[in-house]
Amino acid sequence: MCGIVGYTGPREAYPIIIKGLKRLEYRGYDSTGVALQNSGLKVYKKKGRVAELEDMMIGKDIHAHTGIGHTRWATHGEPSDRNAHPHSSASGKLAMIHNGIIENYAQIKKELSNKGYTFSSDTDTEVLLNFIEEIQKNNQCNLEEAVRIALKRVTGAYVILLIDETHPDTIIAARKGSPLVIGIGKGEHFLGSDATPMLEYTKEVVYVNDYELAIIKPDELILKNLGNEKITPYVQKLDMELAAIEKGGYEHFMLKEINEQPETIYDCLRGRLDITTGTITMAGVEKEMERLIHANRIVIVACGTSWHAGLVAEYIFEELCRIPVEVEYASEFRYRNPVIFPGDVIIAVSQSGETADTLVAIEKAKDQGALIFGVVNVVGSSIARASQAGAYTHAGPEIGVASTKAFTAQLAVLTMVALKLAKQKNTISEERYLHLVNELHAIPEKVAIVLESAPLIKALAEKYKDAEDFLYLGRGYNFPVALEGALKLKEISYIHAEGYPAAEMKHGPIALVDENLPVVFVATRDSFHEKVVSNMQEIKARKGKVIAVINEGDTDTAAICDDVMTVPEANEIVAPMLSTIPLQLLAYYIGLAKGYDVDKPRNLAKSVTVE
Ligand code: M6R
Repeated sequence: MCGIVGYTGPREAYPIIIKGLKRLEYRGYDSTGVALQNSGLKVYKKKGRVAELEDMMIGKDIHAHTGIGHTRWATHGEPSDRNAHPHSSASGKLAMIHNGIIENYAQIKKELSNKGYTFSSDTDTEVLLNFIEEIQKNNQCNLEEAVRIALKRVTGAYVILLIDETHPDTIIAARKGSPLVIGIGKGEHFLGSDATPMLEYTKEVVYVNDYELAIIKPDELILKNLGNEKITPYVQKLDMELAAIEKGGYEHFMLKEINEQPETIYDCLRGRLDITTGTITMAGVEKEMERLIHANRIVIVACGTSWHAGLVAEYIFEELCRIPVEVEYASEFRYRNPVIFPGDVIIAVSQSGETADTLVAIEKAKDQGALIFGVVNVVGSSIARASQAGAYTHAGPEIGVASTKAFTAQLAVLTMVALKLAKQKNTISEERYLHLVNELHAIPEKVAIVLESAPLIKALAEKYKDAEDFLYLGRGYNFPVALEGALKLKEISYIHAEGYPAAEMKHGPIALVDENLPVVFVATRDSFHEKVVSNMQEIKARKGKVIAVINEGDTDTAAICDDVMTVPEANEIVAPMLSTIPLQLLAYYIGLAKGYDVDKPRNLAKSVTVE
C-alpha cells in the first residue's frame, strides 16, 4: 500500500527515484510524486501512474542530490493531484511522504485548525506533517526531535520520509507497521518500501524496525528509538538479482510468474525434500518440533490468496497430522477476542510478509502465548521477523498484483511441514509418506506440462470473456482451488465470480444457473470425483455451461463438459498445485482479452499494509 523511495548522495536523485517508483508501483498506482532538494524544496505530483509524472517532468529542472518519491494507494481522500504525495508543510520548508494510516488524524486536524492551519488536501499525511512543523515551532527543536514527539502522539501505521529545505542532504525516516528498507552505498543511501529500488546500487541493507527513527545523510546513517537512544543498524546482505524483478521477455509479470512455477516450486523443495533418503529438512520446523507436534490445534491466519492456501493446508494437516485446524481471515481474527491457548500454533501465511491484518493478528496471538510459525515469501519482511519460527516459500519477487507463484509455493511449503510433522507424530504410514514425498517431488515437471495448454486456455478465454458472472465449484482439496480461481477472475477481469463447495451449490447458488452462466468445476480424480461429476450433471440439467479442470485422459468426465482444461494425474493432496494453474491462465487471458492492465488491476495493491 503506497510505495516510497528516497535517495541522498552524489548521484542525480531524480532518475533513481523514478526507476524505484516504477518498481514499487505494484504497491499502489493512483497518483505519484517527488520532492527534490534543488536550490530549495521542489514538489511535483500528479494523479495517475509514474509514467504520467515522468511526462509532466519533461523540461523541468530535475537536478538534485537528495529527494523522495511516492506512488499512492488512496486511503484518505480520492486519487487526485492535490491528494498525491509528497505533501508540503504550511511554511513550505518541509515535504513528506507516508505509507499507512494515521488513525487519530481527525483529532489532530481539529487542534491544528483551531490554531489557524488550513489544509490543501484531504489526507492524514498533510495533518501529520503540519503537526510536526507545529511542534518544531513551539518547542524550538530540530526536525528529528519534532518527529519523535509527534509520533508518540499518533496512532496507526506509518512509514514516513521527510526532507527539510534547511538541511538539504538529510532525510528523516520513521516506521511503525509499514515496511522500510535502507540501502547502504559508498557515501550514499537509498530508501524504499522494499529493496527493489536499490538492487543495482547496493546489496547491503538495513530493515528498519517499528518505533525506529533514522537520520540519513550521504555518509551517515543514525538509527534511534523513539526514546532518542541510538541503535546499531543490523546490516544484512540482499539475496536478490535484478533479473528477478524484470519481465524477462514476457508481456506481463503475471504471465511470467505463472510460467515460473515449475522453477519456483522446485526452488521451494530444493534443499528440503530429498527423495533418495525420503527426508524433509526444515530448520524452522525442527527448531520448534516439540511444540508443533504437541499442538492442541493449529490456527492458520491469512488474507486473500494466502487464506486459500491456508484452507488447502487445513485439509492436509487434519488428514496427515490429525491436529484440528482452523483457518481464519486475519482481519476478523484480530478484532474478535479469539480464544487462544498457550498450546496453540498459529501459522501465518503471507506472500508479502507485510499484510497489516495478518501482522496484527499474530502479534495478538503471540501475546497470549501461542507459537507463531510464518510461511512467508519476502525475506526479512515484518511477518517473517515477528514469527518465532517459519519457512520461507522462496518463490522470488512476485510483482503482478494477483498472486500466482506465491500461492503454489505456499502449498508446497505447507505440504512439506504437514508431512514432516505427520512422520514425527507417527500419524502416517511409511509407505504413504514416501508416496507423497515422491508425488510432491514430481509436481514441478507436471506444472510444466499444464503450462503447455496455455494456447487452448487462451481460446477458452476468448469464448467466455463476455460472460457477466462465473461460478467456481470444487470439493475437498479442490474447494479452495475453486475459491482461488474465482478470486483470480474477479481481480483480473472484473467479472463477478463466486467460489463454492460443489455440494453447497444446491443450497442456493444453483438458482443462478441458466444457459448464460459458465460454471467452472475443479474436477480432478480424487476421493470426491464421482460426487463432483453428479454436481456437473445437475448444472447440465439446468442448461448451465460446464467448463472443467480434469485429468488427462478422463474422457468420461470430458463427455459431459462443454469445455475442459487438463492436468496430469497426481495424489489429491498435491493436486491443487496443478489444478490451480489453468485457472490462473484463464483469468489472465480473459483479463487480457478485455483489454485490462492485468499486472495492476483497478483498486488493488500488492501489499496491503493498511487494515
Ligand atoms: O501478501 P499477502 O499474502 O499477505 O497478501 C494477502 C492478500 O492481500 C493477497 O493474497 C491478495 O488477495 C492478492 N491480490 C491475491 O491475488
